[in-house]
Amino acid sequence: MNLAFLNLSSNNFYGDLPDCWSHLAAVVMLDFSNNAFSGKIPMTIGSLWRIETLKLRSNRFVGELPSSLKNCTRLQVIDMGDNELSGSIPKWLGVSLKNLVILILSSNHFNGSMPSQLCHLTRIQILDFSVNNISGSIPKCLNNLTNMAQKQNSSLTSTHTYNKDDYGFHSFLGDINYEDEASFIWKGRMQTYKSTLGLVKRIDLSSNRLTGEIPSEITHLVKLVSLSLSRNRLTSQITSEIGNLQSLDSLDLSRNQIDGRIPTSLARIDRLSFLDLSYNNLSGKIPTGTQLQSFDPLIMLKMLYFVNLDLKRCVLIKLSQLT
Ligand SMILES: *[C@@H]1O[C@H](CO)[C@@H](O)[C@H](O)[C@H]1NC(C)=O
Ligand SMILES: *[C@@H]1O[C@H](CO)[C@@H](O)[C@H](O)[C@H]1NC(C)=O
Ligand SMILES: *[C@@H]1O[C@H](CO)[C@@H](O)[C@H](O)[C@H]1NC(C)=O
Ligand SMILES: *[C@@H]1O[C@H](CO)[C@@H](O)[C@H](O)[C@H]1NC(C)=O
Ligand SMILES: *[C@@H]1O[C@H](CO)[C@@H](O)[C@H](O)[C@H]1NC(C)=O
Ligand SMILES: *[C@@H]1O[C@H](CO)[C@@H](O)[C@H](O)[C@H]1NC(C)=O
Repeated sequence: MNLAFLNLSSNNFYGDLPDCWSHLAAVVMLDFSNNAFSGKIPMTIGSLWRIETLKLRSNRFVGELPSSLKNCTRLQVIDMGDNELSGSIPKWLGVSLKNLVILILSSNHFNGSMPSQLCHLTRIQILDFSVNNISGSIPKCLNNLTNMAQKQNSSLTSTHTYNKDDYGFHSFLGDINYEDEASFIWKGRMQTYKSTLGLVKRIDLSSNRLTGEIPSEITHLVKLVSLSLSRNRLTSQITSEIGNLQSLDSLDLSRNQIDGRIPTSLARIDRLSFLDLSYNNLSGKIPTGTQLQSFDPLIMLKMLYFVNLDLKRCVLIKLSQLT
């Protein structure tokens, strides 16, 4: 009953989780990632009202997210990536779990549309719904995700501290700290971030069935470091305000049905080191701005441009500052 941390990750556990969590009210961190657990996520998981980190990544869980999770209002990290979960993305995620910083539901079978209530997640820093079956349009209210929109500096790590007075039974250990970490695909490779996690602000909605335009409101998220909307069915044009995303390191809009010109404002993003606009219907010139021209020649050599305007397809990949 006093158990606060339960980490069974990276083992070979399998089978259903028993539905008897109601006695574990002290749990703040539960990590069952990288096992072979299956079946539904038990309803009594909602009794873990103190839980802040819930990681069930890379298992074989099926069914919907249990609605009892809305009881776990202290949750900051949910990573359920790489399972076989289905159903829609619940509205209550945005209504009840306002402390969420990391929400990873990638590589599952979620469908339906993105509820606008997600915009209530003002502390969110990583929103990853990639590789699902999500349809409809991208909510316009994304500019409400203030943690991604505010210019002030954020802390480097995401640390949880447990004061011994809250957990009298731990007093022999003193205060306890742990830092969150998160793993996701970054520039084509699975990477794990911990000591710099606080700086990672990303939205990944790639490989879904999203339609409509890229909402211009997204350009308010000036702290966004990575944005991937690739492999959807997005249409219309890239807003010229995209250049406002001055923190962007990686932008992937490839494999959609976007038309029009490549906005020249893209050349203003100093930090951009990965840009993929391939497999759209873009035309016109590759923007050459101050940034694109002012690279030092050595770095320039490591940049790769590949343009094929004849096909009205344009691929622009810039790989700079490689070591
Ligand atoms: C669980 O343990 C593994 C292996 O030691 C570690 O990599 C992981 O970060 C731990 N999980 C949490 C949430 O601290
Ligand atoms: C929600 O949490 C309360 C304690 O805050 C607990 O009594 C209740 O059983 C929980 N509800 C569910 C559905 O787990
Ligand atoms: C997506 O939905 C379609 C039709 O609803 C279905 O045929 C397909 O298997 C689903 N894909 C995934 C990855 O769930
Ligand atoms: C979502 O998938 C389920 C089957 O898993 C299906 O019954 C439902 O119609 C789908 N919803 C949408 C909006 O595609
Ligand atoms: C977005 O923020 C504005 C101002 O804070 C608020 O009025 C609006 O209801 C919010 N919208 C959503 C969908 O969260
Ligand atoms: C691509 O854009 C051109 C105009 O630039 C338009 O004429 C053509 O129909 C578009 N093709 C597709 C497949 O949308």
